[in-house]
Amino acid sequence: MSGPNTDYDPVEVTPLKPEEVDAMRAAALAAVAEAGDLDALKRVRAEHAGDRSPLALANREIGALPPQARKEAGMRVGRARRAVSEAIAERQVVLEAEHEARMLVEETVDVTLPWDRTTRGARHPLTTLQELVADVFVGMGWEVAEGPELEAEWLNFDALNLGPDHPARTMQDTFWLEPADGGLVLRTHTSPVQARTMLSQEPPIYVVCPGRVFRTDELDATHTPVFSQVEGLVVDKGITMANLKGTLDHFAESMFGEGITTRFRPSYFPFTEPSAEVDLVCFVCRGREPDVESCRTCKGEGWIEWGGCGVVNPRVLTACGIDSEVYSGFAFGMGLERTLMFRHGVADMRDMVEGDIRFTTAFGTEI
Ligand code: DAH
Repeated sequence: MSGPNTDYDPVEVTPLKPEEVDAMRAAALAAVAEAGDLDALKRVRAEHAGDRSPLALANREIGALPPQARKEAGMRVGRARRAVSEAIAERQVVLEAEHEARMLVEETVDVTLPWDRTTRGARHPLTTLQELVADVFVGMGWEVAEGPELEAEWLNFDALNLGPDHPARTMQDTFWLEPADGGLVLRTHTSPVQARTMLSQEPPIYVVCPGRVFRTDELDATHTPVFSQVEGLVVDKGITMANLKGTLDHFAESMFGEGITTRFRPSYFPFTEPSAEVDLVCFVCRGREPDVESCRTCKGEGWIEWGGCGVVNPRVLTACGIDSEVYSGFAFGMGLERTLMFRHGVADMRDMVEGDIRFTTAFGTEI
C-alpha cells in the first residue's frame, strides 16, 4: 500500500507564478498612481481590485494548487491585493482632498455681489406696436374690438362672403380643429371680428382690432404660422372709398412719419367691393428720383405693399344684419409683423418669434 503523496507536485498555474503576480501588482499600483480624479480611481478600483480583477482571479486559482504550494501562493497574492487596496485608499484620500480644494475655489460665492437686482422685463415690440396702432385710432374716436383666436368657420369665412370653394378655405392655409366637420378654425385673419362687431353693435361702427392669426405657413424670414394683423372697420351713413383713403394715409403717417402716404391698387377680396391693395410710399427712397432707381427696399418701385382694404361688400352687411341700403362702410387689414419690419428695419421675421431677449430689449424696456 502506498502512503499519501506528499511530494511537491508543481502544477503550473500561470497566474500564480511570482513574476505574474508581481506584474499584476505593478500594473495595479501604476494605474492607481495615474488616476487623476475620483472617477478615474473608481474605474481603477473596479479593474484592479474588483471581483474580476487579475489578482482576484488569480486568488481563485489557489485552490487548484497542491496543498504544499497553496500557502506561499496565498501569501503572495494576499500581499499584492493588500498593497493594491492600501494604495487605492491612500490615493482616495489625496484625490478627495484635491477635489474639495478645487470645489472651494470653483464654487466660491461672492457674498459682496448685489442680490436684489433683477433684470427688468421688456414687453414684446409687437405688443407695444399693437397698442400704438390702437392709440392712433382711439385718437380718432374709434373703439378697440376683440375676437377669439379659436373662431367659428362661419364667422371666419361664410359671413365674409368667402364661399366654400374659395381657395383660402382649403386645408392648405387653415388650421382646422378636430373633428374636421366641427366648424371650428384657428382664425386665419382678424376679419371675423368685423362680422362679430356688426352682429353685436348697431352702426355707426368705428372699430380697430389688432390680434393674432394663424396659417399653415412654414417659418422663414418672411412667414410665420402665427402672426398678427390689425383690422379696421367703419360702417356709417355715406361712407366712401375717400374716407378709407384719408384714414389709411393718416394711419401710415402715424406709423412711418410725415409724407409716407398710401396708394391703392385694384384687387379682390370677397368681403369688400371694390377692393384694393394698399401700398406705402417707400420709407427709404420716398419714391424720389434718382434714389428710387437703386433702392433695394422697394426694388425701384417707390412703393411697398402693406395690406388690403375696400368698401364693405353689401352681402357682408346683409349677412351681419345691417341694411346695406342705408349704411355703407370700409375695412382694411395689415400684417403687424410687416409693419414692425418696416418701422424698425427688422430683416428676419423669425427674430420676432424666437423669444431672444436681446431682440426685444433692443426696443427698450418700456413696460
Ligand atoms: N383679411 C385679409 C387677409 O388676411 C386682409 C384684408 C383685406 C382685410 C381687405 C380687410 C380688407 O378688412 O378689407 O389677407
